[in-house]
Amino acid sequence: MKKRLHIAATATLFLGVGACGGVSSVFTPIGAETPGLTRAEQELFEEGKTVFATAEDVDEGLGPVFNGRSCGECHSAGGVGGAGEDLLLSRVTRIGAGSGASYSDLVEWGGPVLQRRTIDELEPGHNIPAEVVPAGAEHVSRRITTPLFGAGLMEAISDSTILSNINSGDPDGITGVANYVDDPITGKRHVGRFGWKSQVATLEHFSADAYLNEMGITTLTFPLDLLPQGKALYDVVPEPEDDGEDLQLFAGFMRLLAAPDPAPATLASGRGNQVFTKIRCAACHVPTLQTGSSTVVALANRPVNLYSDLLTHNVGTGDGVVQGAADGDHFRTAPLWGLRLRKFFLHDGRVTTVDTAIRAHGGEAMAAKLRYQELSEADRANLLEFLGTL
Ligand code: HEC
Ligand code: HEC
Repeated sequence: MKKRLHIAATATLFLGVGACGGVSSVFTPIGAETPGLTRAEQELFEEGKTVFATAEDVDEGLGPVFNGRSCGECHSAGGVGGAGEDLLLSRVTRIGAGSGASYSDLVEWGGPVLQRRTIDELEPGHNIPAEVVPAGAEHVSRRITTPLFGAGLMEAISDSTILSNINSGDPDGITGVANYVDDPITGKRHVGRFGWKSQVATLEHFSADAYLNEMGITTLTFPLDLLPQGKALYDVVPEPEDDGEDLQLFAGFMRLLAAPDPAPATLASGRGNQVFTKIRCAACHVPTLQTGSSTVVALANRPVNLYSDLLTHNVGTGDGVVQGAADGDHFRTAPLWGLRLRKFFLHDGRVTTVDTAIRAHGGEAMAAKLRYQELSEADRANLLEFLGTL
């Protein structure tokens, strides 16, 4: 549990004015709050942001094994809440074995997520070993940290809006799969949308999951502490280590974090936008979805320019890991907003350019990938310029 900090009520309005083709337009800087929040929401955002970025100590429940001491340690590129800045620090390892009904998360060996740091780095003498990939792991998937800008808008998209993008009779044979999640907090079944396999539907659920799997901190939602490499090694803080207050603050911050506004369009990027639609990248990377109702008025009934259908597809990059309805071959259509703030791409961060990320597509995206490869040099440059404005 976080030590409480005194946080001054700041109600700064982060609005800037940018030139867009000669016409002035208002844009929201990366990492700022969503425009139009109430005073109480602005205060929640500021307090949540501070707690999100504050390192935890052993006496607050950190560990015994962990990957980061704060959420902000991994989510930092472009601002607090961003993607991973440093591949080595922010990329995690997920393990599993088998497939279908016999799939295992290998909890008895320290799965599903490995933790590579231990509390010995803060308090020597516990002699807890850092986790390594166990011999029984058939699937080892590296996962880079996804950005959280606009997460509240993604959460406010209704299930039916996501389901309406499941194609039938698509000319390229594209069919998305929705990943239904039994949410441990609401007790309800929702369509998942967060994480590389759309394995989580709400920000409270993801917060509880990350608090446990990345930081070793238990909550009422996940009250059992991490066992280093599956072995019961004593942890001094009684469970649950967080009473739920931090979860509300993390979720509040992420929910109110503004979407990444694109950079101003150029003539070339405008043409590239048309190419993106023409070669049917947009069949999966749907430019805009609409939110439904929300308790946050600023998030309700708004366009979300995320470039994803939030469904999972087989694009030939499979890692064997099963998460809910997403099997070993399926991944969420990666949202492309905020792409210009990123340094490495695809779920495992295997490539460092957008061009090579596109060329890695296969499976359901094979036809679109081939059309990309057959573009004229000029059209391809325009398309990459367009993606570089997102
Ligand atoms: C060690 C690095 C690390 C730390 C620390 C960390 N995360 Fe993450 N985060 C990740 C990775 C990796 C993913 C992608 C996980 C996946 O889907 O496999 C992720 C994904 C997410 C997502 C999903 C966003 C989306 O659209 O896909 C949310 C929400 C999130 N993290 C919240 C948090 C919160 C809240 C905390 C602190 C309690 C936190 N994270 C701490 C690495 C980290
Ligand atoms: C069949 C659905 C589908 C189509 C069509 C498709 N993509 Fe993707 N795209 C995905 C999925 C799924 C991923 C994530 C794959 C992974 O990480 O293993 C992805 C990832 C990406 C990424 C990397 C994003 C990141 O966060 O790392 C880029 C860039 C991208 N796609 C651009 C394109 C472009 C440009 C086209 C058109 C030529 C295209 N995609 C066509 C489904 C699709």
